[in-house]
Amino acid sequence: MPTSIDECAGQLLAQGYVAERELATAAFLALRLQRPLFLEGEPGTGKTEIAKTLAAMLGRPLLRLQCYEGLDMAAAAYEWNYARQMLEIKTADAKLSADDLFSRRFLIPRALLQALELPGPPVLLIDELDRADEPFEAFLLEVLSEFQLTIPELGTIKAAEPPIVVITSNRTREIHDAVKRRCLYHWVDFPDAARELEILRQRVPGAPEALARQVVAFIQGLRMLDLYKLPGVAETIEWSRALLELNAVALDPQTVQQTLGVLLKYQDDIARVQGSEAARLLEQVRAQVHHG
Ligand SMILES: Nc1ncnc2c1ncn2[C@@H]1O[C@H](COP(=O)(O)OP(=O)(O)OP(=O)(O)O)[C@@H](O)[C@H]1O
Ligand SMILES: [Mg+2]
Repeated sequence: MPTSIDECAGQLLAQGYVAERELATAAFLALRLQRPLFLEGEPGTGKTEIAKTLAAMLGRPLLRLQCYEGLDMAAAAYEWNYARQMLEIKTADAKLSADDLFSRRFLIPRALLQALELPGPPVLLIDELDRADEPFEAFLLEVLSEFQLTIPELGTIKAAEPPIVVITSNRTREIHDAVKRRCLYHWVDFPDAARELEILRQRVPGAPEALARQVVAFIQGLRMLDLYKLPGVAETIEWSRALLELNAVALDPQTVQQTLGVLLKYQDDIARVQGSEAARLLEQVRAQVHHG
């Protein structure tokens, strides 16, 4: 467990995760205060990755709850094993009471319940909460504020030690204040050029320095454009790998043209950038990288 923000940032970096100061601070405090870390921000900027990184850095198991429309308690927390209950009713010698049937051995724990019971305690990633329906958040409140879960037939199960919780959202809708209030909040923005270069060094160590600088400058330029979907860090990494695969040592118009589909996933955006806009960006990159 880190004892300072610097130590926390250092431990994240040792796992290849480059955290800006505010994020390292939020992560550090979340660990120390045993509060969930709530991360909102641009796609592909390391929100999901930090949960994995925290698990690796602390040597804890990672439990992941991927949210989706229609996610309910049965899928998120626990479920009674009806098939097994039926079977027992049929095959039991004596009559089974409700207490027998709703006992622990018929309970199937899902991620939330597992997170409360697994020793460690684990890192619990509640990913893309904005995709779940709003009623689900109400249910999460008990788990997040008390680190406990009430099962009507069984009683309340409380974590011996709170799990480390990371919640992410892409902000397709606002998450309820009551959830946010229980968390430490951080907005994950696109990294600046220096940090993005550092991320590339960590994630694509084989990329030549000159190429990495050009890639970062080009992408930073792209993000200034008014595109439907801006490239995230994930795209920066992917593009560098693609360029390495093509044995490119520097950006040239033809290579950029041929690989735009790694960066931009909408035809309108590609059409917008192709040709003169790409050439202009490349000029800008050349000027920057040579003088920087
Ligand atoms: N600060 C960082 N340090 C190291 N790697 C990073 C960083 N930010 C992003 N990455 C890398 O970028 C990729 C995308 O990150 P991640 O999946 O966490 O994005 P996300 O914010 O969860 O995106 P989405 O909103 O689309 O789910 C991962 O491969 C991750 O390793
Ligand atoms: Mg994610």
